[in-house]
Amino acid sequence: MEAFLKTGKLGPKAVGDDRGTKKAGAGAAPQKRTTAPVPWVEKYRPRSVDDVAHQHEVVAVLKKSLSGHDLPNLLFYGPPGTGKTSTILAAARDLFGADLYRSRILELNASDERGIAVVRQKVKTFAQTTASGKRPDGRPCPPFKIVILDEADSMTRDAQSALRRTMEKEGRSTKFCLICNYVSRIIEPLTSRCAKFRFKPLDRSVLTERLGSIAEKEKLQVEPAAMEALLETSEGDLRKAITTLQSCTQLNPRDDDGFAQVTGEGVLEISGVVPDRWLDALMSACRSNSFEKVQMFVDNFICEGFAMTQLFSQLHNRIVREDALSDKQKSVICETLAVNENRLLDGANEYLQIMDLVTIMMGALNGPEIA
Ligand SMILES: Nc1ncnc2c1ncn2[C@@H]1O[C@H](COP(=O)(O)OP(=O)(O)OP(=O)(O)O)[C@@H](O)[C@H]1O
Ligand SMILES: [Mg+2]
Repeated sequence: MEAFLKTGKLGPKAVGDDRGTKKAGAGAAPQKRTTAPVPWVEKYRPRSVDDVAHQHEVVAVLKKSLSGHDLPNLLFYGPPGTGKTSTILAAARDLFGADLYRSRILELNASDERGIAVVRQKVKTFAQTTASGKRPDGRPCPPFKIVILDEADSMTRDAQSALRRTMEKEGRSTKFCLICNYVSRIIEPLTSRCAKFRFKPLDRSVLTERLGSIAEKEKLQVEPAAMEALLETSEGDLRKAITTLQSCTQLNPRDDDGFAQVTGEGVLEISGVVPDRWLDALMSACRSNSFEKVQMFVDNFICEGFAMTQLFSQLHNRIVREDALSDKQKSVICETLAVNENRLLDGANEYLQIMDLVTIMMGALNGPEIA
């Protein structure tokens, strides 16, 4: 039960340096012992809404409430690693100050029990406590608390329904912020009570700028090819890009001046991208119309241990752009890719799925009726 009141437990320790408060090292070391390595995603998590990149609409609304306007209930949705959790934590820190903000938020994510009983008890109890409009030192601060329901799309419908009345009744003293990846999994009555903000995948210029500034601070020499590979593989997910960058720095030792090299190959290796030569080999095995060759390719490929979904996604991009294929061939292969990927997600055997795919591809590439 106590897990819910993280806020209370972390309160005093968060004073001063509250880096990485959500997952890594929450309330861990006091300020003097900051030598423990911190994951860069936590180290470079925005501390203030001004640091949040690219999400202009939500930043504008939050800034208004910082300047004294009321804060609506919020619903943030969008793909992973685009700044949803960081934005609301940064806004809470800006609103209440670093010393008070932990006691003014109740943060529940998918790792906490959030069934209907919890919504009825914990959330309701927290919402009913009053929040004063003054800090301990007498300076004013907003007279409300914030309940952050992270990964709200994994809450049951019953638990979501139980929130409706609490949201209305305690609306003046408690603001809710629901965060999710799939907004369609949030029930309509809740979405209609919130101001909805879509978090967009970060574009290339923002990613380049953020990664560049991290590289400068961490003394990294990032090759242009490595930057390009980071942008390609992260698909707008800054968390993924930062994590890959950090992992790459461990591939090569630092030089005498303390600089680490980040190479394009290193990035591709770390991010698990299937090298183009495997895709070439797959296409030519299928074109050969020989079952033995196709099976040999599959056996070798499986031995390499690549992620099958990664192959499917790269193959899809390649098929769509392949000029030598007719529209009919492309549609047959893409449909098979979709079906097989779905089966993989449902837990099907990888070997059988790739065999199914390559044999259908073989037929599509060589069959006279659709050539
Ligand atoms: N818009 C952004 N501005 C600045 N940093 C960002 C932004 N988006 C992501 N980041 C970086 O990525 C990390 C992860 O962001 P965050 O946890 O906020 O993502 P999220 O949108 O909540 O993802 P998820 O849906 O997976 O929970 C942050 O620590 C931060 O370093
Ligand atoms: Mg999040």
